[in-house]
Amino acid sequence: MRVDGKPMRTIWLEADGWSVGVIDQTQLPHHLVLKRLTSLDDAAHAIRTMVVRGAPLIGAAAAFGVCLALHADASDEALEHACETLAATRPTAVNLRWALDQMAAAVRNRPRAERVAAAYARARDIAEEDVAINAAMGRHGLALIEAAASRKNGGRVDILTHCNAGWLATVDIGTATAPIYAAHDKGIPVHVYVDETRPRNQGAALTAWELAHHGVPCTVIVDNAGGHLMQHGKVDLAIVGADRATAQGDVCNKIGTYLKALAARDNGVPFYVALPSPTIDFAISDGLAEIPIEERSPEEVTKVTGLAPDGRIETVEITPHGASAANYGFDVTPARLITALITERGVLAPNRDALAAAFPERTGKQRPSNGS
Ligand code: MRU
Repeated sequence: MRVDGKPMRTIWLEADGWSVGVIDQTQLPHHLVLKRLTSLDDAAHAIRTMVVRGAPLIGAAAAFGVCLALHADASDEALEHACETLAATRPTAVNLRWALDQMAAAVRNRPRAERVAAAYARARDIAEEDVAINAAMGRHGLALIEAAASRKNGGRVDILTHCNAGWLATVDIGTATAPIYAAHDKGIPVHVYVDETRPRNQGAALTAWELAHHGVPCTVIVDNAGGHLMQHGKVDLAIVGADRATAQGDVCNKIGTYLKALAARDNGVPFYVALPSPTIDFAISDGLAEIPIEERSPEEVTKVTGLAPDGRIETVEITPHGASAANYGFDVTPARLITALITERGVLAPNRDALAAAFPERTGKQRPSNGS
């Protein structure tokens, strides 16, 4: 995507050919700060503290984290330590484990002298594959927005989204935003209601920032407003991202997604999940029982961070001092509440058969010969 006219991604290889550049997302939307990662610890710290976040970007950052580890030491022990360290950073987004498996498979059986080059090649491919997957989801999801626009005789299409499943959550383009950018770029009048997404405000801080930079009209709403808007016919469709989906199509995403799906169902609003295949965990079925839900620091609930009038970023307390708080990062939306899954291989029904038919190589089943 472009920021102030300049093309930009969330993660890149620096000019030295080995260190890794990222956008420090903890500073957005107030400051655009770039960071250079030079070690495994830098990469693990960036993921843990959410300098980089969003399931696909976490996967890409972990892949480059393995590269940084091997750049320092290409031994078997270093590879194992890197994978263990990175796997422990965040528990819910399965792209992390997927990317580490990909990296280990790419280097494990190679002679030491070839490992670093092989790691960087696979990490670059993971990043490029993410961009291609998102572009494909954009093409498939565009048809859904076009259909909504034609139902409204070319009138404005109002889309609700939660958290940040935009280009900042991926290497580029985004997942839930891919169809939105595609529609906007095609001249379809789209407007996005952006859930602020407490406690870390990824919607208010990140989604609103990136949509505005691309010229997509958007309105930030408090997390509890979505149901009200749907009751009053102000939302044509919802598109959200995913941190992990199961083989039967249950979807885990940022806390609050489930409530939006319930409100959408009650009001007949189509509820779509943009789901790149590395986010599907074919090893599990029941999202509620089997997906580990990250619990983060209660301080993210009891405090908020923002821009003070003097330009400093400040964190202030909003609860009685010492109040007890709980901070569940994600929730699970059962497949029955999802209208369809937007994947790189098309818009799929949220069920086991449709997912297995579209991704047979992940389930050990034969793929139809006309599949893309
Ligand atoms: O805690 P975060 O900011 O990493 O959570 C991000 C989300 O929940 C996104 O909606 C999800 O990763 C999809 S991103 C394309």
